[in-house]
Amino acid sequence: MVKIAPSLLAADSAYLGKTVSDLELAGADFIHFDVMDGHFVPNLTFGPNILKELKKHTSLPFDVHLMVTNPDECISWYAESGADLITFHLEATENPNQTIQLIRDYKLKVGITLKPSSDIKQIIPLVDDVDLILVMGVQPGFGGQTFYPDTTERIKLTKDIIANRNVLLEVDGGINFHNAPLCIDAGADILVAGTAVFQNKTLTENITILKGLSK
Ligand code: DX5
Ligand code: ZN
Repeated sequence: MVKIAPSLLAADSAYLGKTVSDLELAGADFIHFDVMDGHFVPNLTFGPNILKELKKHTSLPFDVHLMVTNPDECISWYAESGADLITFHLEATENPNQTIQLIRDYKLKVGITLKPSSDIKQIIPLVDDVDLILVMGVQPGFGGQTFYPDTTERIKLTKDIIANRNVLLEVDGGINFHNAPLCIDAGADILVAGTAVFQNKTLTENITILKGLSK
């Protein structure tokens, strides 16, 4: 069954502690923690102190998505604050092997990702060294955007590159009840969902619907 990683970007940030504990009860598998620095993307979000405080309110693993120009500098901040998995953008590092090693030094899971406009083939030399590949369905920076239709094709290409390796494929951005089955059929193991989890129905109802879309 597909795993769900709700993005806190879509939550009411005045109640994040209660939200992460509610998400655990609602059946979430990870907490997706979007870190934006106002440089790599035109938005600013959560610092490591918030992560550290939120860890007290849930036992779910934190899936930290770094959208920053200086991932190597930030890794220790989030690792020491309780990140379980750290994903960085290949566009933001000149030496991805060094960035991977910095995350490994903390014995954490490593993810890599690219903006939708970047060439997916950049992951090929790194696929043996990571735990997860994140396929973006929107330009990073904001929640609530529309899913790019060519994302399913990029998911399939990524799945082909992963082949039979023990590497998870996560999809992030613009996921809704209509395109989630397409992502799952194309090979997604984990769906990040902000708007789809936090709007309309209860957290439990939305997460249950998303999980029920996998065969
Ligand atoms: C976008 C973030 C996503 C985003 C997802 O830069 O990486 O995690 O919050 O939100 P929705 O599901 O609303 O697109
Ligand atoms: Zn994200």
